[in-house]
Amino acid sequence: MSAPSIVILTGAGISAESGLGTFRDEGGLWAQHRIEDVATPEGFARNPQLVVDFYNARRTQAAEATPNAAHEALARLQSEHSGSVTLVTQNVDALHEKGGSKTVIHMHGALNSALCGRCEHRWSAPLEMTVGQSCPHCGAPSARPDIVWFGEMPYEMDRIEKALARADVFVAIGTSGNVYPAAGFVQLARHAGAHTIEMNLDPGENVGLFDDIRPGMASQTVPAWVSEVLSQ
Ligand code: APR
Repeated sequence: MSAPSIVILTGAGISAESGLGTFRDEGGLWAQHRIEDVATPEGFARNPQLVVDFYNARRTQAAEATPNAAHEALARLQSEHSGSVTLVTQNVDALHEKGGSKTVIHMHGALNSALCGRCEHRWSAPLEMTVGQSCPHCGAPSARPDIVWFGEMPYEMDRIEKALARADVFVAIGTSGNVYPAAGFVQLARHAGAHTIEMNLDPGENVGLFDDIRPGMASQTVPAWVSEVLSQ
């Protein structure tokens, strides 16, 4: 039997123990800011300074954060597991990469990337972006955070769906299962006959769709699971 193909989806919960806030927990980011003001194209058009300031603050906080045992365990899995491992994150921090992961699919974009609203050129974002910053490629004053806002299409969906279609194991870590299409990945994995595992502090909205529920802190549950997989 060849080694199982594993697809992993992470959410804000995997970065919580690294000090980065989640969205929907008590006092989370969506308790402090209105989604429509800071995470939609309309909000950016209405008040670009508010949006640029919001992501500048998160970029600085993420730049100072360090990966935790969960990020490091997933990097170990990617380097030691003989089957394929596809790591998809909804997170825009770079803690998977800081934890040693070489290949990470950032389906909601990344704080350390800037995007041109006109030509779609991408470049490394400065720690502090400014409103009306010029695109280094087309020169238009249309730089924006390279973040997928509500109403926009997440990145790399073809690649993700192909990986889910051939998954033997699907694991969701630290995500509340509130936001689609990510919250629907468990159904795609089940259609492919994959064994599905949820690792969360509190059960997600879609917890009923998982075969195996492992509640707890990601820094505990993820390394334990990775050791289990690598010892098989
Ligand atoms: N260990 C494991 N899970 C945790 C931990 C922890 N230490 N702390 C919190 N969690 C869990 C919570 O129980 C919750 O289920 O992480 C989840 C966080 O859920 P959300 O705050 O909704 O974050 P997420 O699911 O990543 O949000 C998805 O929504 O707003 C958009 O684009 C944004 O990518 C984000 C998407």
